[in-house]
Amino acid sequence: MLLKVLTYPHPGLKERSVPVVDFGPSLHELLDNLRDTMRDLNGIGLAAPQVGKPVKAFVVDLGEQLHEFINPEIVEKSGRISFDEGCLSFPGLSETVARPKFVTIRYQDRHAIKRTLEAQGLLAVAIQHEVDHLEGVLFIDRIPFLRRFFTKRKFRKG
Ligand code: CO
Repeated sequence: MLLKVLTYPHPGLKERSVPVVDFGPSLHELLDNLRDTMRDLNGIGLAAPQVGKPVKAFVVDLGEQLHEFINPEIVEKSGRISFDEGCLSFPGLSETVARPKFVTIRYQDRHAIKRTLEAQGLLAVAIQHEVDHLEGVLFIDRIPFLRRFFTKRKFRKG
């Protein structure tokens, strides 16, 4: 099922998400819907709070494999990479963001199994972008002040 993606400045995007405790059918349905919605909109990542569900879950798919992350925690990061990021909550916007190039993420899969993944490059960027969503942090919060100011103003005017 396709879900409606909240767009900036919807206040839900600034909320902190809560950990997932129930790994039952409703979580699986949410993950499936996140995947379908992300693919329908040609995104490479989508987090639950972006569809109005403030729980710690997101999906990423760079085209080679679907990744599902529940209750993620980035435990190591290093290096630096600048990438032109977009976000389904900011249609049409692309901004260059600098982030660590390598991350190690601990998380649970949809069956609550604990897993660890080492990621680099675009996958690491996408993971960090989505983890930020779970904390109510948006990619425009990570760009220089003046660009952020004008970008926010443009979106607020709609
Ligand atoms: Co986003």
